[in-house]
Amino acid sequence: MGLSRLVILTGSGVSAESGVPTFRAADGLWLGHRVEDVATPEAFARDPALVQDFYNRRRRQLAEVQPNAAHRALARLAAEWRSDCLLVTQNVDDLHERAQAGTSPGSGFRLIQMHGELLKAVCTASGRVCEWRDDLQARHPSPHAADGLLRPHIVWFGELPLEMDTIEAALGRCDLFVSIGTSGAVWPAVGFVQQARRAGARTVELNLEPSLNQEMFDEGRYGLASQIVPAFVDELLADR
Ligand code: OAD
Repeated sequence: MGLSRLVILTGSGVSAESGVPTFRAADGLWLGHRVEDVATPEAFARDPALVQDFYNRRRRQLAEVQPNAAHRALARLAAEWRSDCLLVTQNVDDLHERAQAGTSPGSGFRLIQMHGELLKAVCTASGRVCEWRDDLQARHPSPHAADGLLRPHIVWFGELPLEMDTIEAALGRCDLFVSIGTSGAVWPAVGFVQQARRAGARTVELNLEPSLNQEMFDEGRYGLASQIVPAFVDELLADR
């Protein structure tokens, strides 16, 4: 196939079989809440206890879940791919990282968690980011600034996703863009496929069902991530 530079985007569908719930249920609620009640800076200002509790529960849940075959297949790709491979995840869990334990990602590999990480907190005054594994209190004093509070290191609606310059540069020169387990509902990730197409890349979607922007992809493969991702990675590594 002669493909070399990859950009892979993952969403919550890749972690679903690990037991991490996806976001958009048929009732329109987001893990039982309205988005604006738990995932906006305004919600945090209005009701910090509710917002911290929402993320505390999700952070605790990470101790009960394990990477699945899809995460492991992407870790194998990271280790065996000999050229650029950017894995961008919208997920705030640490399952891609954990799947890489004991493997050695190639020098061209990078993982970006564009929506932040549950296992980090950020100081509202200094912007300093630190590792964080415990619960956060409603108004959690920051160790980094006297007037600061710690909040989850999560990109909320209305805030800018992380490392967009690096992501856009990689999209602008990729040969293959693969979107895995995402519904195509949240910007800017929705637009990545168009950016990759403009660069002349082949575009493939791997999902349980066709996403909202299915027509933007050259190819779609539908099924459980634990089955279709390992099969796709096998093909990619065999075709090099
Ligand atoms: P969604 O819940 O919108 O979409 C999950 C997608 O995964 C759906 O298209 C499902 O069909 C698919 N899916 C479910 N189980 C699957 C499985 N076992 N194998 C393969 N696919 C499966 O979640 P996201 O697209 O990830 O942002 O949502 C994107 C962002 O919306 C999230 O990162 C979050 C939310 O707002 C922030 O927290 C900032």
